[in-house]
Amino acid sequence: MLPPESLLSDFLILDQSIHGQRLVYLDNAATTQKPMPVLLASRHYYEAINSNIHRGTHQLARAATEAFENARKTVAEHLHAASGDEVIFTSGTTASINLVAGILALSGRIGPGDEVLVSTLEHHSNIVPWQMLCQRTGATLKVIPCHDNGTLDQQAFHSLLGGRVKILALTWISNAFGTVNPVAEMTRAAKAAGALVLIDAAQAIAHLPTDVQAIGADFLAFSGHKIYAPTGIGVLWGRAELLAELPPWQGGGEMIKEVTFEHTTYNDLPFKYEAGTPNIEGAIALAAALDYVNAIGLDAIHAHETALIRSAAEALGGIPSVRLYGPADRSGSLSFSIEGHHHYDIGTLLDHMGVAVRTGHHCCQPLMARFGITGTVRASFALYNTPQDVAALVTATAKAVAMLG
Ligand code: ALA
Repeated sequence: MLPPESLLSDFLILDQSIHGQRLVYLDNAATTQKPMPVLLASRHYYEAINSNIHRGTHQLARAATEAFENARKTVAEHLHAASGDEVIFTSGTTASINLVAGILALSGRIGPGDEVLVSTLEHHSNIVPWQMLCQRTGATLKVIPCHDNGTLDQQAFHSLLGGRVKILALTWISNAFGTVNPVAEMTRAAKAAGALVLIDAAQAIAHLPTDVQAIGADFLAFSGHKIYAPTGIGVLWGRAELLAELPPWQGGGEMIKEVTFEHTTYNDLPFKYEAGTPNIEGAIALAAALDYVNAIGLDAIHAHETALIRSAAEALGGIPSVRLYGPADRSGSLSFSIEGHHHYDIGTLLDHMGVAVRTGHHCCQPLMARFGITGTVRASFALYNTPQDVAALVTATAKAVAMLG
């Protein structure tokens, strides 16, 4: 098991009191804290090599370009991508999914009568861009239902593939319930039915090793800030031959080869989808975050977090009136509600006891509607959480229940 105590000193933000209590940060599905090597990578960029990339011939421009392109290589290696050409830097998961939905709508590959398949577990970022694609193309949005335990109904999924599904857009790990979907298996089935597949790895990226070859999908999206990197940087991975074929998205500098007032020719991958000056520091800091995580090992991180979630679920489940959501083998997030009490009230009381959790619908209103609730309390875990954090969560929840009566 991971010794998080040895890593805690890398996360200065965690060493503080909230309302006079030790901060217990359990809102990692919303965003993770940043370790010192990531902060230093950002600082070094601005202190030593800040410059625009791919444009200048001067020394700083060359250094910044090299650092940015090395970051792309680090991401490609982390994902087991065939090459860096398949790694597009974006501002995050939402931008990556909107990019794919946008270029597919433009491509003419999807039209009236076609179907786009998502699941009940999706957050709004993996629903709304597809609704917009459907509005633009005349396609229909179909939804894979889920069971009461928060896992997807695989039988219904296979039946839905019998239609005219052009793309399956599926979360790997549910941000709300922690359900881990069998993405490789579902990708295989969807591809056999002739659909493209996009995997939303926003939550999975910090909890599981990611191998795009093993999953076999066409696209995968994630955000840096969920894996200890800054906000405003993310990745779209896509199969090179597919991205090369699809139309460009935003127009501007970098994505062009030649521009005249009559005609523009577009750049090769990955630059074709990186119009404008990118988040250079963010990409460099993301590479530092991936190096940090890989030095520890995602298998070790996953085992550590899973042990914490299991013990939290067991202890919280023992408090009368607590209802847990999601399957027993959840990853990253643990959602619960307390009978007769609003999740905001519980969240506010937990905050006063130093425990930071997210409450509400978790950007998953359709999932909440499926369970007939408006929201939950969600504790979400990271590599720096400890058994003491679990104990603090459980004690604070029990106290909140007693206070609310
Ligand atoms: N997607 C983020 C969450 O689950 C914001 O909290």
